Amino acid sequence: MFKKYFHILTLQKNNTLIISDNRNSSLAKKISIDLDVPYKNTELRVFADGESKIRLDNVAKKNCIIIHSTYPPTDQHLMQLFMIIHKCKEDGASDICVVNPYLAYARQDKVFVDGEIVTLHLIGRILASLGATKLVTIDSHSPGSLNYSFETVDLSAIPSLASYVKKNITLNNPIVISPDEGGIERAKKFAGVIGIDMLSLIKTRDRFTGDVSISLSEQQPLENRDAIVVDDMISTGNSIIKATEILKKNNIGNIYVISTHALLLNDAKEKLLKAGIKEIISTNSIPNEFAKVDLSSVISHYFSDH
Ligand code: R5P
Repeated sequence: MFKKYFHILTLQKNNTLIISDNRNSSLAKKISIDLDVPYKNTELRVFADGESKIRLDNVAKKNCIIIHSTYPPTDQHLMQLFMIIHKCKEDGASDICVVNPYLAYARQDKVFVDGEIVTLHLIGRILASLGATKLVTIDSHSPGSLNYSFETVDLSAIPSLASYVKKNITLNNPIVISPDEGGIERAKKFAGVIGIDMLSLIKTRDRFTGDVSISLSEQQPLENRDAIVVDDMISTGNSIIKATEILKKNNIGNIYVISTHALLLNDAKEKLLKAGIKEIISTNSIPNEFAKVDLSSVISHYFSDH
């Protein structure tokens, strides 16, 4: 077997395990091959009442790297993650690193309306109390809010997504669009890889109804230019649809949507295609038909250097 990352973990290699359930096994197995460390599957059963039951062989004295994305059903997947960490700790694992490519509750990172709970902080406290020593996320909505009591690392799939677009899509005078000001850094990074301009729209959200409105901040010639809308996630698709409406009013050319995490809840896919999106491109942080960019190398590279 070709060992891409042969130099890594030379001391701990025999002591390290990549752990996941079946749901995350495709990504986890690729990482285990890249890093040349063993893969350990957990046996998972979900009962009719929604409760999970998990079995994992003893991992005493092992450095455990748990690959576990917490996409919907988020609470169930979070609970399963808590169970796996708990088992590793009870067994006496030396180290428990959680790789959670799609971090649930990342958008609940501050109090927007008085009385709200900052669930992102709660998750950090639970992970710490269970014994997690590190959390690795990918393009988390608000990485600055992950100020947990243990180490957190937010990796980015944006360079890989940009390289995919550069290699596979022929674009006409393209421009990168961020649907909101919170996504400017991501969009800039994407535009930098391709070597083109970027523009940020302005998004406001009614904090009680959740309704979103999007406007253009500055007049830019957009006519017939292809737009690459870059966002961290597509959930209901509403943000992208609103962005599409304003771009179309400005006679944009083709619209491509690039999103690290494609949740595409309910009929989001149909709504986006009906709105005139030419193509959606995402990663495999969440299984979906538009997952054209595999995250294993982003994650493996990180571990090869740390
Ligand atoms: C919010 O600021 C995020 O970056 C996304 O734009 C948003 O969460 C996407 O959600 P939806 O698809 O429901 O509009």
